[in-house]
Amino acid sequence: MKDKVLTILPPPTQQINSVIALRAGVELYVLRLDLMHLLVNGNKWFKLKYNLLEAKQKNFTTLLTFGGAYSNHIFATAAAGNLLGFRTIGVIRGEQKLPLNPTLSFAVQQGMQLVYMNRETYRQRNTPKLQQDLQQRFGEVFVIPEGGSNLNGVRGCTEIISDTAAYDTICVACGTGTSLAGITLSLHPGQRAIAFPVLKNGEFLTQEIDSLLNNYLASGLPIPNHSSTHWQLICNYHFGGYAKVNNELLMFSQQFQQKHGVPLDYVYTAKMFYGVMDLLQQGFFPPGDRLLLVHTGGLQGNIGMKEPIE
Ligand SMILES: Cc1ncc(COP(=O)(O)O)c(C=O)c1O
Repeated sequence: MKDKVLTILPPPTQQINSVIALRAGVELYVLRLDLMHLLVNGNKWFKLKYNLLEAKQKNFTTLLTFGGAYSNHIFATAAAGNLLGFRTIGVIRGEQKLPLNPTLSFAVQQGMQLVYMNRETYRQRNTPKLQQDLQQRFGEVFVIPEGGSNLNGVRGCTEIISDTAAYDTICVACGTGTSLAGITLSLHPGQRAIAFPVLKNGEFLTQEIDSLLNNYLASGLPIPNHSSTHWQLICNYHFGGYAKVNNELLMFSQQFQQKHGVPLDYVYTAKMFYGVMDLLQQGFFPPGDRLLLVHTGGLQGNIGMKEPIE
């Protein structure tokens, strides 16, 4: 990878001076992964990093990946591919809708070829049969799963927090749990990680995260720390499900940005931040806790978001 082309900055940490945190006796910090690069940022960068390195090392010239029409991963892969000189193909779930939304227009501008797949076929995207079909259709392509959620993705996420020791609790929004798995593998003794699923009935993720962790531990890939295995899911801040928002969440997000200068995306980070602030008011975190909220990026998604209907 040519560093000249894709320069990723270390994420700054910002303290949040909030009355709610003060009353709870808790120190609140945000790790701003959204500020690492204009286009390739957030947890997306960490999930892509080792996939891009492997593709380069194996001399692939084309990346193929999957996502929904508003996918942060499609956005970031298109940008990273363009900056690093890969051809990119995005397999998009569902039918084509014209005009393209801002996420997909951007992907096309970056040179990504979009291929639409009906939802039933899309569900089989990880099967050997469909992967073979894609290789036949597009030739030698380096396949990155939806959301960058593979062992390379977990490996990258073990690097999200460089100074884990400074915090007691790490909070992160959760889609597949890949970011949580990586963060958990970097915990120090006495620390815990808490993930907030943005999907309804997120409890099912417990099993998926366990298997992500077990597969990673069995893979022989580097493990930075893993002296604590204390992770948990808090499943009641999904606001009705994936990409569902209401006016309360929208207002929270706007007020948080006004007060603290941190913009939030409605699909992921706003739900986690809302959950943390609510739990602070309930006394969930012990006084003295140093809390790190991981801002996983995703702000591009706000552009294409329609006004929420309550
Ligand atoms: C902005 C943002 N935050 C959080 C997540 C959830 O990450 P994970 O799938 O690793 O749980 C995603 C999806 O990848 C995302 O795009």
